[in-house]
Amino acid sequence: MSISLSVHSGNSIGFKILKYLKMKKTLLFSVIFIVFLSQMGYNQQQISLKAAYKKDFLIGTALGAEHIHERNEVANHLIKKEFNAITPENHMKSGLIHPEWGRYDFDIADKYVAYGKKNGMYVVGHTLVWHSQLPKFATQLQNVDSIRSFMTEHIKTVASRYAGQINSWDVVNEALNEDGTMRKSIFLKLGEGYIKEAFDLAAKIDSKAELYYNDYNIEQPAKRKGAIGIIKKLQASGSKINGVGIQGHWSINTLNLQEIEDAIIEFSNLGVKVAFTELDLTVLPNPWDLKGADINQNFEGNPQMNPYINGLPDSVGVVLAEKYEQLFKLFLKHKDKISRVTFWGVNDGHSWLNGFPIRNRTNYPLLFDRNFQPKLAYQSVINLKK
Ligand code: XIL
Repeated sequence: MSISLSVHSGNSIGFKILKYLKMKKTLLFSVIFIVFLSQMGYNQQQISLKAAYKKDFLIGTALGAEHIHERNEVANHLIKKEFNAITPENHMKSGLIHPEWGRYDFDIADKYVAYGKKNGMYVVGHTLVWHSQLPKFATQLQNVDSIRSFMTEHIKTVASRYAGQINSWDVVNEALNEDGTMRKSIFLKLGEGYIKEAFDLAAKIDSKAELYYNDYNIEQPAKRKGAIGIIKKLQASGSKINGVGIQGHWSINTLNLQEIEDAIIEFSNLGVKVAFTELDLTVLPNPWDLKGADINQNFEGNPQMNPYINGLPDSVGVVLAEKYEQLFKLFLKHKDKISRVTFWGVNDGHSWLNGFPIRNRTNYPLLFDRNFQPKLAYQSVINLKK
C-alpha cells in the first residue's frame, strides 16, 4: 500500500526519475534539432568549392569504398555538392585491383568510374605503376622478363578496361628519391626507360586520357630537378605527357610557398599542366622533425605526438585556415597553369593522416570536420573568391 501511494505522489523517487528522464529526452531532442538546423543551414547554402573555383581549376577529393558505395548520405551529399573531380584513394592500386597473377578484381573500381560518370565528374585513374601497395606476388618477382610482363600486362588490362572513361591517369607514381635520383623500385630493374614504356603503353591503350607523372616533395629543388628530367626525357623521345602531379602532403608548420611557386612555374615552362593531386595539411607534430629522435622509437600512444584528441584548439584552426588561404591565393595567381586541386580525403575523420606516419592519432588536415561541417579553413578558401 505504502509503495503504490509513493509511486503516485508527486514527490516520490519514481516520479522524480520519470521527470528527470523526460528532461533529458527534451534536452537530447533539442541538441539533435540544433545540429540538424546547422546542417540544413550549410546544406542550403548555394556556395560550394567547385562553384567558387569553376573558372579557375577543378576541385577534387579522394574516395574510399564507403563513398563509392554511397553508404553515408551526408558524405554523399557533400561530395556531390563540393567536388567536380574524384580520385580512388586505394581501389585502382595494383595490390587491390590485381591481387594475383592474371586475376583482377574490378568490382569497386568499376563502381568508382560509374559514380564519376553518373555525377558528371572528372575521373582520375590512380595509379598504373607504383612501388607501394603492390600485390604480394609482384614483390617477389626477380627476373627482368617477369617484371616487364607484370608491368605491361597490368597496364594493358587496367587501362583498356576503362579506356575512354578516365580523364587522366597517374601513369607513374613516386619514381624518385629525395635527391632527385631514380628510386630503386622493382621497376627500375627494367632500366630508367620503364617510365617511357609505361607512358607509351598507356597512350596507346587509352588515347583519350591525359597522362601525368605524380610524386610528393617534387616542389623541393633537388627532387624537382629529377621530375623535370623525367618530363624532358619523355618529351624528347616523343612520348605523350600532359601533366605533373604535385601530391601536396604538407604541414602547417613547414609549408614553403616559395618552393611551390617555383615548381609551378618551372613545370609549366616545360609545357605540361600542373595539378595538386593529394592535398592535405597536417597539424600534428612530425616525429622526424624532433631533434635526436630515434626513428625506431615507437611514437604510438605518446601524448606529445597526439595533442588534440579532444578537438582542434581554435588557435590551430586559425593557423590552418591561414595556410590554406595562402596556398589558394598562390594557386589563383597561377590558375592558368593549374588544372586541378584535389584534397586527399573528404573530411578529417576519413584522412589517412590519422594513421600516418603514426597510427591512431587525431588529425585535422582537411576543410571539413568529422561531422562533415565546413571548418574555418573552408571559409577562408571560399572567401578568396567572394
Ligand atoms: C594512401 C591512402 O590514403 C591510404 O589509405 C593507404 O593506406 C596508403 O596510401 N601517396 C599516394 C597515395 O600516391 O596513393 C597514398 O594514399 C598517399 C601517398
